[in-house]
Amino acid sequence: MNHFNKPINRLNTSSLKWDSIKIRTEKENVLPFWVADSDYMTAKPIMEALTSRIKNGAFGYTYVDQEYLEIVKNWVWRRYQYRIEKDWIVTTPGIVPALFFAINALTTPEAKIIIQSPVYNPFYSVIINNNRKILENKLLPIDNTYQMDFINLEALLKEGAEMMILCSPHNPVGRVWTEAEILKVVKLCKQYNCLLVSDEIHCDLVFKEYPFTSIGKYFHLYDKMIICTAPSKTFNIAGLMTSNIIIKDLTLREKFKRELSIRSIGDPNLFGIEACKAAYTKCDDWLEAQVKHIQKNAMLVNQYFKKHIPEAKIAKLEGTYLMWIDMRFMHLTSEALVKKLIDYGIFVNPGAMYGADYDGFIRLNIACPQQQLQKGLEIIGKFVAEYK
Ligand SMILES: Cc1ncc(COP(=O)(O)O)c(C=O)c1O
Repeated sequence: MNHFNKPINRLNTSSLKWDSIKIRTEKENVLPFWVADSDYMTAKPIMEALTSRIKNGAFGYTYVDQEYLEIVKNWVWRRYQYRIEKDWIVTTPGIVPALFFAINALTTPEAKIIIQSPVYNPFYSVIINNNRKILENKLLPIDNTYQMDFINLEALLKEGAEMMILCSPHNPVGRVWTEAEILKVVKLCKQYNCLLVSDEIHCDLVFKEYPFTSIGKYFHLYDKMIICTAPSKTFNIAGLMTSNIIIKDLTLREKFKRELSIRSIGDPNLFGIEACKAAYTKCDDWLEAQVKHIQKNAMLVNQYFKKHIPEAKIAKLEGTYLMWIDMRFMHLTSEALVKKLIDYGIFVNPGAMYGADYDGFIRLNIACPQQQLQKGLEIIGKFVAEYK
């Protein structure tokens, strides 16, 4: 059986996605299509690397060794054609904490920070929790996809935004920004001297037709930029808490490192280091097969909705495994939609958590075996047929 269609039992593994549902919903057997991790095993070379490390038996403090840095450096060059130096890489226990630290360390207390909604909800909280001001550049829904509003973006930059957090590829709308779009963002940030932070956690999960462009390709034009990347989504190792933050500019990097030190963020997770080394050197084929699987799953969703729920509008998925579905024809808030869907037996994310304008939308995580997805779709179909 295809690796990605092989079900794994994640119950009673302290899985946030599977095990916390019971507490959140007070119900048994609710299928999870929410938190962004995947429901198939990670790649074999990663399993082997971790198993071999476990056999060693000593799990003491770990440091980020030169081999690790070389591997990350080679990965971004080999896959995304941008060159970095090893000492530009700073590891953190996740990208969300890195965003929080970057805001605190690299912007003033009065700073205005641009995000583009609808967007991954911690983008709001990392700004709010640092008492900075959010400037929202709403994405423009055009046909079945979303575009950046460059006119408004320039106006917000003119207003004096100190930082822009770009979600690239974009969760939840599934856009993989084109080279032209990325270049335009970089040039605008440069023109208005705005620090550009690009969260590229989903960059490996893009379909062939939509190649990924990292802002890292433009370090020669502008170096006030930070790339946040990680093997966590790509290889289903988010629980190992290891991300790589790439900061070219020495002053920014030193300030960021100082922030980590103040907050006592020190040694990395040893399993995260092992897993990332294996992921970035031995798992290209696995990754390619996974992307094909996600693309097939997306097709399945589109076909199912077209046939059974044609009133819904699904944003074109170019990358990520998160599908953005407009269910406003049901005339329910996102919260009500999610509640009803829980009663029918699946858990999805409410659209409103990604932006105030998106009540009535849901986000569906399709990184699972096809059979599981089919079950979830049938539950949504049943709910719509009975409730409409
Ligand atoms: C855009 C984006 N950034 C960051 C994260 C989470 O990053 P981390 O677990 O490294 O904090 C997610 C998880 O869904 C995400 O979608």
